[in-house]
Amino acid sequence: MEIYQGVRPAVPIGLAALEQKAREALDPAAWDYVMGSAGGERTAATNLAAFDHWPIVPRMQRDVGTRCLSIDLFGAHLPAPVILGPVGVQSIIHPEGELPAAKAAASIGVPFVLSTVSSRPIEQVVEAGGSLWFQLYPSRVPELNASLIGRAEAAGYSAVVVTLDTRLMGWRDRDLERAFLPFLRAEGLANYFTDPVFRAALAAPPERDPAAAVRHWAELYSNPAATWDDIRALRACTRLPLILKGLLHPDDARRALDSGADGVIVSSHGGRQVDGAIAALDALPVVVDALAGRVPVLFDSGIRRGADILKALALGAAAVLIGRLYCLGLAAGGEAGVRDTVLNLLADFDVTLALSGYSRCDQLDRSALALPSAAGAWRSRTG
Ligand code: FNR
Repeated sequence: MEIYQGVRPAVPIGLAALEQKAREALDPAAWDYVMGSAGGERTAATNLAAFDHWPIVPRMQRDVGTRCLSIDLFGAHLPAPVILGPVGVQSIIHPEGELPAAKAAASIGVPFVLSTVSSRPIEQVVEAGGSLWFQLYPSRVPELNASLIGRAEAAGYSAVVVTLDTRLMGWRDRDLERAFLPFLRAEGLANYFTDPVFRAALAAPPERDPAAAVRHWAELYSNPAATWDDIRALRACTRLPLILKGLLHPDDARRALDSGADGVIVSSHGGRQVDGAIAALDALPVVVDALAGRVPVLFDSGIRRGADILKALALGAAAVLIGRLYCLGLAAGGEAGVRDTVLNLLADFDVTLALSGYSRCDQLDRSALALPSAAGAWRSRTG
């Protein structure tokens, strides 16, 4: 109603117009880094297209006069089932890095997940206020992993997300074409450069020899040889909820639980890692069935609209994370741009929920959707 009364959001409402405004604001290399995906970008396209083959079947004459979007998750009460997911190196989108998006999340009351490869360090982002989660890319150095998790816990972060799908950087045509990788320019390495374990291994501090610090980072940032046993060591580092991100196969989801995870995120990293992978949405109900309600299953990869949130929740997600969508808001309008992009998404979800015949998130289940055949076939193959 505010919009009809003349209160314009800080960003365009339509996705195409939002993308155009963001694109105009960004350096072309940054635009390609944010919007690009792995290889032929088929997973990214499939992630979006999957929402079309799980259509909503709206129901009539149900009382939707009073709605409540809130959920309880890992002991916290959230105003809506939406989280701002980890997106690294936001300094290529905004000069203040992660602070504007974290502040926008805080103003709405939804969690913000700080990436390992953020432009601002763990302790500084606390300035934004609100609920913060920390995302870890496990490195080759167990002491560094423990140090980063310990810093997040000490700074008051309330959950740790460990991303499992980025053991190597995906083959991304757009970035390769431009030879653009911000980390090699020492952007997005704030958490490493401020870390005592990382610094202790350098001959000279990063401020004096950034090139050597970047070389050291490149040698240790990921451990492609890691296995499920290594998750147990991370589990032992913290009392915070441990959430494993990037799972698509039901057997991996079961292993996640066996390794002590408190939750999982079904995600294909927005299509940035494996080209030609299953749509994350199609993997969601299979993982949900495998875990049978024992831990919350979160979802990301392709959320753009309120209807997408409804579909993910109907397929069993406890909440969704958004990635590129809030980055577009950040590019187009800074903190206000993120805030209004998220508020528009929540208002769209609220209206779609009501018009579909539901007034609360926990009323949603698969009966809200017409089930497709393609994903059903995959489901029966994987059990
Ligand atoms: C990401 N993502 C990501 N994930 C993660 O665990 N750590 C990270 O540092 C990053 N960095 C990152 C940068 C950029 C530019 C993008 C677009 C994405 C993945 C992110 O958390 C999420 O999984 C996807 O963005 C979800 O897909 P959508 O919402 O972008 O379609």
